[in-house]
Amino acid sequence: MVKVVDHPLIQVKLNIMRDERTKSKEFRENLDEIASLMCFEVFRDLKVHEEKETITTPTGAVLPKLKLDYKIILAPILRAGIGMVDGVRNMIPTARIGHIGMYRDEETMIPHEYYFKLPVVDNPLVVICDPMLATGGSACAAISAVKQRGYKNIRLMCLVGVQEGIDAVTKAHPDVDIYIAAVDEKLNEKCYILPGLGDAGDRIFGTK
Ligand code: PRP
Ligand code: URA
Repeated sequence: MVKVVDHPLIQVKLNIMRDERTKSKEFRENLDEIASLMCFEVFRDLKVHEEKETITTPTGAVLPKLKLDYKIILAPILRAGIGMVDGVRNMIPTARIGHIGMYRDEETMIPHEYYFKLPVVDNPLVVICDPMLATGGSACAAISAVKQRGYKNIRLMCLVGVQEGIDAVTKAHPDVDIYIAAVDEKLNEKCYILPGLGDAGDRIFGTK
């Protein structure tokens, strides 16, 4: 399943991020907010259960305490995925965080894994996040790496992608649902997304 989460609030914030004049601080703030807003769709089908413990409202009503049924692991693909972590964690404070170190070779576009650490949790939902889905190579490799370690319930959360990247992921991993805020036109000769927003990692961390 591919879900394009293009709520008007997200579109306007993404438009600010696309603007080359937007500085790193504002870029990060908007990414943060979009990640929070996307949670509405990414976690729409989560179940809650009633605990034995109760809560009492100011009007004296007694209600069961509610808790999310799922244990959630958020797994950003380094570096740019880090920019989505706080936004999701603000919505789901109990989410545990893993890290997948992956960079794509600038010549071959082949992704290389350089770090992998995910929390050990019984039967979690793993949400891999990365703002950019270009060729799809990094996302496919990250999903494979997560599966190799025995995790089964996996979702992919991205900001901007192209159809080529979506197709690559759905072909290699048809069991993984993709949530994305915008599907752009195409890739350029350097496999950057057009119109896109440039190099997400550099804009988040101010490295250029
Ligand atoms: C970027 C981006 C994705 C990847 C997307 O990371 O954050 O991980 O490229 O491209 P793909 O779909 O063609 O694989 P990059 O490799 O530039 O690393 P960085 O985040 O450390 O800059
Ligand atoms: N990675 C980025 O940061 N931007 C792109 O457009 C493609 C890959």
